[in-house]
Amino acid sequence: MKPIKVGLLGLGTVGAGTFNVLRRNQEEITRRAGRGIEISMVAVRNLEKAQALIGGVIGNACEIVTDSMLVVTNPEIDIVVEVIGGTELTKQLVMTAIANGKHVVTANKALLAIHGNEIFKAAQDKGVMVAFEAAVAGGIPIIKSLREGLTANRIEWVAGIINGTTNFILSEMRDKGLDFATVLKQAQALGYAEADPTFDIEGVDAAHKATIMAAIAFGIPMQFDKAYVEGISQLQAIDINYAEQLGYRIKLLGIAKRTAKGIELRVHPTLIPNTRLIANVEGAMNAILVQADAVGATMYYGKGAGAEPTASAVIADLVDITRLATADPEHRVPHLAFQPNSISQEVI
Ligand code: NDP
Ligand code: HSE
Repeated sequence: MKPIKVGLLGLGTVGAGTFNVLRRNQEEITRRAGRGIEISMVAVRNLEKAQALIGGVIGNACEIVTDSMLVVTNPEIDIVVEVIGGTELTKQLVMTAIANGKHVVTANKALLAIHGNEIFKAAQDKGVMVAFEAAVAGGIPIIKSLREGLTANRIEWVAGIINGTTNFILSEMRDKGLDFATVLKQAQALGYAEADPTFDIEGVDAAHKATIMAAIAFGIPMQFDKAYVEGISQLQAIDINYAEQLGYRIKLLGIAKRTAKGIELRVHPTLIPNTRLIANVEGAMNAILVQADAVGATMYYGKGAGAEPTASAVIADLVDITRLATADPEHRVPHLAFQPNSISQEVI
């Protein structure tokens, strides 16, 4: 069978990671997907940078362009992977890809939290899939766990450390006594931070992710605008040290909770007793607790940011889509489409 053709939008931390992991593990990935997955087009801003990165490796087999529209409208492309970031251009690109009958994989939580309802509706109408495992908690398969692993359950709440940059900052400030600005620079150099790091430190990125988890866990539309959002920019070393002396760690938590009045959706720094597992999640690691009626509490832990952990999730989506797109279309849409089951449960 011919390989499925992928158009990659963006070749930064996640794009390059995806490219490298796909290349390194090509044999296993092909076997698991049932056919080859080939990046045949890449859109970037800086042609020279991209050529230096991948030109010698994939040579003529992959076209590198600076106009992303050429990728999303190319009839040869089956799946578009959006790893550019931002919400305006990417919305236009993703909607155009869908209108052109392409499946989409995106790591872009801001895009989905803000425009997800429109994007998923368009995908459903067109009969294409939009997959987004990488958008929440990097390499941890939390979307799959909420949607598939826990599908028998009524989920009561989801709470966790879902921003690697802020967890890295809090850990480094505590352990090494470094100041906020120095650690933030390190997080940026390590590829953890958003292009605009205020999204990380003001809690916005975590709120985007909590919005997506709430939508999946409770079957509600994306309601980012109703989230309570507070970041860590007001925290100082003295706060972290006092918490430590009292036996607590400060963690930025994203919380989505079912209540009698509706869904609570909030992000804020939280004092957690240092005897709890989640209090000991350090660096850019993420951890998510899910409380559900049948299984009880489950916890998911792993690398929440960075090139290859995020690529791992992007490629898992590519494999899923490849399998499903190759199967009978009648059976594929419910699996990856996100359809809220009710709008009665409002975020309060
Ligand atoms: P980067 O800034 O590292 O990469 C973005 C890439 O997109 C760059 O290569 C940039 O090109 C390219 N780009 C920007 N504008 C355009 C354009 N108009 N056309 C084509 N290419 C363009 O970001 P990340 O890889 O870190 O993040 C990408 C997405 O993944 C974001 O939505 C982010 O939130 C999400 N994400 C990131 C994670 C991480 O750990 N970094 C983890 C999970 C999700 P150039 O280099 O030339 O500027
Ligand atoms: N900036 C994000 C973080 C990237 O630090 O968690 C992963 O989504």
